[in-house]
Amino acid sequence: MLSAKIIINNEFKISDTDPRLFGGFIEHMGRSIYEGIYEPTHPQADKNGFRQDVLTLIKQLNIPIIRYPGGNFLSGYNWLDGVGPKESRPKRLDLAWQAMETNQIGTNEFIEWCKLAGTSPMMAVNLGTGDSDSARNLVEYCNHPGGTYWSDLRQEHGFKKPHQIKVWCLGNEMDGPWQIEAKTATEYGRKACETAKLMKLVDPSIELVACGSSNRDMPTLGEWEAEVLDHTFDYVDYISIHVYYGNPDDDTPLFLSRPDDMDAYIKEIIAVSDYVACKKKSSKKIMLSFDEWNVWYHSNESDKQLENWQCPKPVLEDVYTMEDALVVGGMLITLLNNSDRVKIGCLAQMVNVIAPIMTRKGGPAWTQTIFHPFLHVSNFGRGQVLQQVVDSPRYDSSEKKSVPYLCSACVANEDKKELTVFAVNRSLQEPMRLNVDLSSFKDYQVMAYQTMHHTDLKAQNTELTPDNVQPFSGENAEIRGDQLTADLPPASWNMIRLIRK
Ligand code: AHR
Repeated sequence: MLSAKIIINNEFKISDTDPRLFGGFIEHMGRSIYEGIYEPTHPQADKNGFRQDVLTLIKQLNIPIIRYPGGNFLSGYNWLDGVGPKESRPKRLDLAWQAMETNQIGTNEFIEWCKLAGTSPMMAVNLGTGDSDSARNLVEYCNHPGGTYWSDLRQEHGFKKPHQIKVWCLGNEMDGPWQIEAKTATEYGRKACETAKLMKLVDPSIELVACGSSNRDMPTLGEWEAEVLDHTFDYVDYISIHVYYGNPDDDTPLFLSRPDDMDAYIKEIIAVSDYVACKKKSSKKIMLSFDEWNVWYHSNESDKQLENWQCPKPVLEDVYTMEDALVVGGMLITLLNNSDRVKIGCLAQMVNVIAPIMTRKGGPAWTQTIFHPFLHVSNFGRGQVLQQVVDSPRYDSSEKKSVPYLCSACVANEDKKELTVFAVNRSLQEPMRLNVDLSSFKDYQVMAYQTMHHTDLKAQNTELTPDNVQPFSGENAEIRGDQLTADLPPASWNMIRLIRK
């Protein structure tokens, strides 16, 4: 049995969690919207065509913010195509995903859906084919109370009150050669700056996210953020950061170490952001919006066989495994442990497209393996993230050396008198005896211990076996004196909730 130790102190905090850390992402692509959240002919559809079975599952995830409408789709999108009478909306080629877009869902419908889902929109403006004029008009359409051309148009479309959208993304992954009208840092930085200026002139209360690099392998990583922030520093509040991991070579020890890469990536982007602040002699802290993160690789090959220009074109339908859930759990732990600078996180995506929730047209909705760690952290990871001193045995993976077997985060919630420990045991063979020093948390008792593991790391949840991989109550968590002790099974996700007596 491995043995690991966590020392925490209730006075030593990283940060309060911003609830928006537990956000999501819905893009016009694949079966995310059409046959995902919206299917008017489905037996469970409401009067607006929204699937209520999907809404029930979304609500369980307790997601405070959802990014929309893309993604790569965004860079060719004209928001005017998606407002007004549905019968007059144009069908367009979606060049990003080589699909067809019917525009039956647009800005107003998405906002209606957000209300039903108990979440709020994080809107994005097109800075590929789109311009600053279109962006500022959309802000006026959504947020201005009335009495102007664009706000009156919203009212004509049936929405008297403004939508009051707070957070806006300035384009998507604009450094990526795959992006419609990709840009150099100079081109994007200038365009984002001028667009941001106009958007904030329309509504000074909004917050803006500038595009960071598309991923950590981009050749201009670091330089891109430095130049983009140099241009946009005064107008933006966040820089975006995206990451997807996969296990194409079936190297599970390496795959399980990926949350540590994510941690290093976050620290790099913080460093570049602070470098720009230093150059500008400013005390302003640019925060990180981790607005795309997940595991994504299972569907890469099969997607190449799909026929183009379908609506919907069922791309990126990854079926997740037990080991994927461990990586997603580890990535959530990484977000928590960086909550002083990462204020927004968006699991990409929500339904059918690299998603925790799957649906069949005319059939049921079910939850994938990754649904469960997200539900745990989103519901029970809110509060004050604590600093930890961790003593864990380590392993060498094929690429990354000295990886701690234990990946963990501890969150105290003063109001609820709770302390929650999230932990992944990354050993594939050995259980781990975990000790947590509770010297500064007197009179706590174990309220619940949920663990998730499976004899088969490749086990999945499918329509026919939706509960194959799911959490269950663990037995071996107890408090003796000042120590919480728990035995974590090999390759397991764990959540131990304590409450003050
Ligand atoms: O989430 C899928 C895609 O991944 C998004 O459209 C894009 O922004 C990223 O490359």
